[in-house]
Amino acid sequence: METALVSELKVFISRDQIQKRVEEIGAQISKDFAGEAVVLIGVLKGAAMFLSDLSRTITLDASFDFISVSSYGNSKQNSGEVKLLKDVDQSMEGKNIILVEDILDTGLTLTYLTRILRAHKPKALKIAALLDKAARRIENIHADYVGFEIPDEFVVGYGMDYAERYRNLPDICVVP
Ligand code: IMP
Ligand code: MG
Repeated sequence: METALVSELKVFISRDQIQKRVEEIGAQISKDFAGEAVVLIGVLKGAAMFLSDLSRTITLDASFDFISVSSYGNSKQNSGEVKLLKDVDQSMEGKNIILVEDILDTGLTLTYLTRILRAHKPKALKIAALLDKAARRIENIHADYVGFEIPDEFVVGYGMDYAERYRNLPDICVVP
């Protein structure tokens, strides 16, 4: 596992499939918030690529912000503990927030983040998750925009890591 080579990874969702789905989500967001401005808040670091691609498919006045929480570290297991490492830079009061995340897994991270962001009194708060592992959910939370529902497999690439590796892969892959 630690030594898995990029050539040994199996493509699970290809770059073409990702691009097509991201465009659809961007079009939906542009329609849902027509005539308004949105703030895309990316959850570092996994959502960086998704936010970057998604933002370019949104035809609205959009600004970026980033938030950081402690997560898996070097293990595949979520400790269940969520700690805020970096808060947003701008005031979110009265804004249309779209929280952009790579994977909605147990839901602990997004439950924690939505609680924090609601305290900022935004006008709207939506969640865009590229992947949804619904079978692993502990908290009762759902994303408003979902790229792909996936089974309980550990995936990497397109921003997602295993022990900080593989984030730069253009496709979403399963680690053997
Ligand atoms: P949750 O709090 O359990 O919903 O965890 C969500 C976070 O866990 C995501 O933002 C990812 O960073 C990480 N995560 C969950 N599943 C995977 C995976 O299959 N690959 C890489 N990271 C994952
Ligand atoms: Mg993450």
